[in-house]
Formats: sequence, structure tokens, C-alpha cells
Amino acid sequence: MEGIDAEKLREDFPILKRKVNGKRMVYLDSAATSQKPESVIKAIDNYYRNYNSNIHRGLYRIAEEATEAYTGSKEKVAKLINAEAYRNIVYCRNTTEAINMVALSLGKSLLEKGDIVLTTEMEHHSNIVPWQMLSKRLGSKVEYARLDGDKKFIDMEDYKSRLEKDPKIVTFTAASNVLGTINDIKEMTRLAHKKGAVVIIDGAQHVPHMQMDVREVGCDFLAFSGHKMFGPAGIGVLYGKEEALESMEPVLGGGDMIRSVSFAGCSWNELPWKFEAGTSNIEGGIGLGAAVDYILSIGIGRIREHEEELTKYALESMAEIRGVEVFGPGIGETGRRGGTISFNVNGIHPHDLSTIFDSEGIAIRAGHHCAMPLVNSVLGQDAVARISFYAYNSEEDVDAIAPAISKAKEVLKVS
Ligand code: ALA
Repeated sequence: MEGIDAEKLREDFPILKRKVNGKRMVYLDSAATSQKPESVIKAIDNYYRNYNSNIHRGLYRIAEEATEAYTGSKEKVAKLINAEAYRNIVYCRNTTEAINMVALSLGKSLLEKGDIVLTTEMEHHSNIVPWQMLSKRLGSKVEYARLDGDKKFIDMEDYKSRLEKDPKIVTFTAASNVLGTINDIKEMTRLAHKKGAVVIIDGAQHVPHMQMDVREVGCDFLAFSGHKMFGPAGIGVLYGKEEALESMEPVLGGGDMIRSVSFAGCSWNELPWKFEAGTSNIEGGIGLGAAVDYILSIGIGRIREHEEELTKYALESMAEIRGVEVFGPGIGETGRRGGTISFNVNGIHPHDLSTIFDSEGIAIRAGHHCAMPLVNSVLGQDAVARISFYAYNSEEDVDAIAPAISKAKEVLKVS
């Protein structure tokens, strides 16, 4: 497989041509959101300039074009994750909304007082808070599978022992937005299904970066966001197995999600439209379709390979810097981690570090990364600094990290 020429790919991204604080822009925050290629920006621009209209309503040319482009984007998404069909692809705002939809519909009807939702200590708030909110209402309980002693991977023995309590719902991230850890989602799904649980996977940090095959994994639901995979913000995906989606009641009611309405009641539209009430984020769907085209034109396998190489290179270079503590899987474990690296520099607050990185034109994230239980209770940190890669990052970007850390040490007088 021929590697990615990141410097060349970078040219597809208008924003990466700008300077920040007079310096070459080094964008190392793709776990928060990715940059957008020209083709995605153009697809959205083209929709507004040439066929802006509502979908599923107008019986005229441009409305048909918009409907086709929107539905066509679902076919592309289905292909990317090897879903059965576009019927299985529900659009919503983001990963958080997708998980909330399952909690509010399936969760609400399935769970009774005392029932368990099993998640993990590695989760983003989006896969903790909806379940805690539901527990408060229904009297159900949330349990968390622990991390291993090294705080890198899920402790599978602990996971298995919690499955023995017969949780009705089991939900976990495919890849951690803090540790970078890639979970064995196929095995975790298999074990949970053996106990009869419904399985929901948070794919926000996985789908953009490596092959996701929902039919091979076997999960009932998968949630992910368009903006982390070259697409626009405000469009997210809930994949569901057909029987799972059919069994769920819609969360929102209104236009387009119905088959018929009378004063006496209503019946639901077919999948996936039953879950998309009101006018959809049409530009978002069309932009996401263009983003999937862009991923497929590079090749998801090449993206993964490129990021794994960069991650290894970054971990090696960071290992040489005194006072740097990296969290998550290490240099010899890059096959089990993605290109998200959280770290701290002894004696420097991550927010100060981030500010100094910014003065060098480098964007990184610092804080709890919407994973407070993991960062505070498991890692024992108030905050951590985080770099995260995507296909457009190059070794030159990685080479900018060590000098920025040195500058931070110098400015803050840390040895
Ligand atoms: N979930 C995103 C992140 O980890 C916003 O930065």
C-alpha cells in the first residue's frame, strides 16, 4: 500500500494554507474536529448555489436533485461502514445526539428499576451522561468496566465479570478520545450478545481513522460524527441493525417522520426517515457524502497506516523529552492505539502549554476532554494536553512538538 504524501494532501485544505501567529499552521486537534477539504466545501456551496430546496417534499427538478444527493450520501456512509443499506443510516446532529436517541427510545422502553447499563471507565461524557440521566428517571443503574493496572486498556476480566450481572445494554467506545486506545469491539460485542445485551458503540474516534465494519463487528448500534471525518458540523450518524431500529419508537415527532396522520393518531414512515422529524440538515448530509468520497479516494486503510506511523514517530520523539508523561498505549503498542496522544509536562499546566504551542502556530487541546471520570479519577490528573492526528498531518508537524515543549519549559522556567 503506497503511503500518504501528507504535504501534498494538505494542499486540499484551504485552512491549512493560513499562518497562525506568523507561523506555518500545525493543526493537531483533529480528535476535536477535522479540517475540511475543498471538495466538501464545494459540495455545500454547490447545493446552495444550484439546487437548494427541501427534500422529500417538492415535485420539481431541484427538489429531486436535493433528495437524491441527501439519500445518496447515506448510501456512501453505509458503504464506508459496510452497513446493510441506507435504511440503516439515521442522520442526527452528532455522536452525542445519536447515543441520546437510543437512550431515550430503546433505553426508556427496555430498562426497568434495578436494570444495569454497562459502559466503561474510558468513555466520553456522551456515553455516560445519557445513561446517568436515564437511571435517575427509571431507577436503573450504570456500571463501568474498569481499565487495567496500566490504565491503557479495558480490563477484560472485569468486563466479563460485570457481564455476569446481565446488563440489558452494553455500550463502549471503539477508540478513546483521551488514551487513543482501540478497543477489541468485536470481542466485546460477542461477549455482550452472549448475555443477551443490546450493544451500542461510540465510533466517533474510530470511523474517521480506520476501517469500521458493522456487520463484522455485529453491534446493534454505532454512533459517529461527520465533523471529525472531513465533513461539516451538525451532522452525525446513528447506524442501527434493521430489527433494532424497527423496534424503536421515534424520539421526535413532526413532519416527514410519519406515514399518515389523522386527528385520531399517526403511523410512522419507513426507515430511516421515521427518526428524522422536520427539515433535515440537508447541506450537512450532502457535505458528509462528499467527505466520505474524500476518505474513500484516499483509502481508509492508508489513513490508518499513515496515522500509525506518525503516532509511533511522535511517541518516540516525546519519549526523549525530559518530564513528559504520555498516557495510553506506548511505542510498542501502536497497533492497539489511534493517533490521539494525551500527555503532560512536569511542572507545566496543560493550559499554559497549549497557549505556548499556539504562539508557535500549533493547535492542541488541553483540559478534561469531555472525559472527566477518566482524566480525574482514573488518570488522577486535573487536565491533560492532547495532540491528535489526521491524514493531513506530516512528520514536519510532529517535529514541531519538541521545540514547542522546550519553549514552554524555557518561558515557564521549568527544567
Ligand atoms: N469529543 C471531542 C474531543 O475529544 C470534542 O475533543
